[in-house]
Amino acid sequence: MSAVLPVLATRLSAAAEAAFGTPYDPELRAATKPEFGHYQSNLALRIGNSLKQPPRDVAARLLQELNLDDLCEQPTIAGPGFINLTLLQSTLAKAVNEPESFTSNGQRVVVDYSQPNVAKQMHVGHLRSTVIGDALCNVLTYVGYEVIRQNHVGDWGTQYGMMIEQLLEEGGTAESLDLEGLQHLYERSRKHFDADGNFADKARLRVVKLQSGDPETLAGWQHMVDVSLDDFEKVYALLGSNLAREDVVGESAYNDGLPQVVADLDHQGLLTESDGAMCAFLPGFLGRDGSPLPVIVRKSDSGFGYSATDLAAIRHRINTLHADRIVYVVDHRQALHFDMIFTLARAAGWLPETVPAEHVEFGTVLGPNGKPFKTRAGGTVKLVELLDSAVARADSLLEGRDGVDRTATARAVGIGAVKYADLSSDRGNDYVFDLDRMVAMTGNTGPYLQYAHARLTRLLSKAETATEVTELKDPAEQRLALLLTGFAATVAQVAETLQPHRLCTYLYDVASALSIFYEQCPVLSSEGTTRASRIALCAATRAVLQDGLGLLGIEAPDAM
Ligand code: ARG
Repeated sequence: MSAVLPVLATRLSAAAEAAFGTPYDPELRAATKPEFGHYQSNLALRIGNSLKQPPRDVAARLLQELNLDDLCEQPTIAGPGFINLTLLQSTLAKAVNEPESFTSNGQRVVVDYSQPNVAKQMHVGHLRSTVIGDALCNVLTYVGYEVIRQNHVGDWGTQYGMMIEQLLEEGGTAESLDLEGLQHLYERSRKHFDADGNFADKARLRVVKLQSGDPETLAGWQHMVDVSLDDFEKVYALLGSNLAREDVVGESAYNDGLPQVVADLDHQGLLTESDGAMCAFLPGFLGRDGSPLPVIVRKSDSGFGYSATDLAAIRHRINTLHADRIVYVVDHRQALHFDMIFTLARAAGWLPETVPAEHVEFGTVLGPNGKPFKTRAGGTVKLVELLDSAVARADSLLEGRDGVDRTATARAVGIGAVKYADLSSDRGNDYVFDLDRMVAMTGNTGPYLQYAHARLTRLLSKAETATEVTELKDPAEQRLALLLTGFAATVAQVAETLQPHRLCTYLYDVASALSIFYEQCPVLSSEGTTRASRIALCAATRAVLQDGLGLLGIEAPDAM
């Protein structure tokens, strides 16, 4: 069935047209208080304002034209002229029993996320990108997109030539190094590079060899990539991320397309030479001192950088992957970079106006001291250790629970807590990584929602099979039912705004309405049709919590 809200909106809009000649948008909102019914519209106030007529008269006139008898109780006029609508119990019950679903929208969306860097540990920024990206991919799939994941791994550039040269000089082999070993190799080569001009020259030559495909150099590099990807995959597995090896399309994949990027931009007259570098200067992009900011597509040493790769990636995503929408889940410090890249790609005609390119920016993860999260020595906090400690914390909370698969549940709760904490605040904000708050069983947390789901599962296991919601007499039942009917609209909104916290807030509202429902409305100790209807309402709530958590990438254990 289709959702109730759009039907009400259409009818109200038609009533406005019949009465006043214009089909105004009725802007129906959920009522702020139960005594105002289920939905409210300030349409009469807006029409009254523009036609200079008393809003209550306008409201009365609207109600004359409005026929909602099949869906609502008699609409009422409140205060200065608000129209209040209360759904019939049968309308609400039907909406709960037949939830909305989506079909394919025929659109393909490319989501660029996670994007760790080879030879370096993943850090909390990559955790955010992975968690937000996974959730958005789930949501976009749910509303009917075909989703293509792209893990734009940082695996190309000067540092790899430098590291291979260092390794050759040390007489070591890449095969013997793990990710930590690679990180140390990077540090040694960096020092060497800065201190010794002779080595720096050799390292630069090594970069050229790498970029032109010299087999020995390439083999060493490939090994570094493999070691790193193996390590990233351990984090993905622990997180339960959907990212797979075939989603990795790193910076190196675009190497062969880079000269063409520069040639084509140059041909279009979009490039200027500046100190030996090829740059695009786009109108409106100025530095702090007011001087024009360049997009450097080819550096003065004739190497290509991050920007050139991103331009080549856009061409690939449009021409080969046929994206209808492109989404980048990257921290907010890269906002200017993406703004300039998108502008340049549009100027070059590579990114059609019809294809939105969106930078899904997110804030920084802070440590307990309120500063960006680092180890005491100032290094990267190892994600695996962080996630392990979340699981250990969850495990200690499960102490003494019976009927619970302790290992699996601790994992679901610990990882779920970390993910939910990341997703539940507006992604643009920074947040403090505070395990105690994340695993709390009360408040807007992952474990609170998981617990609500597990409690429903236990209740339903003691009841007969759920049938249908048939009566919704108690206001607590109505409030819960009304919320449940908003699931699809909420998911659609997340797909549009790319803000997962809206789904978190919604699920938290559902869980809160559920706990009021438990207080007001006995389920297993009630009888007859009331009992059957309430069991069905519990089953519908459980489905919403399970689906909602699933979209966020969070497991919903049956017991905890
Ligand atoms: N690897 C980069 C980093 O760690 C992020 C890459 C973002 N994606 C992109 N297409 N530029 O900062």
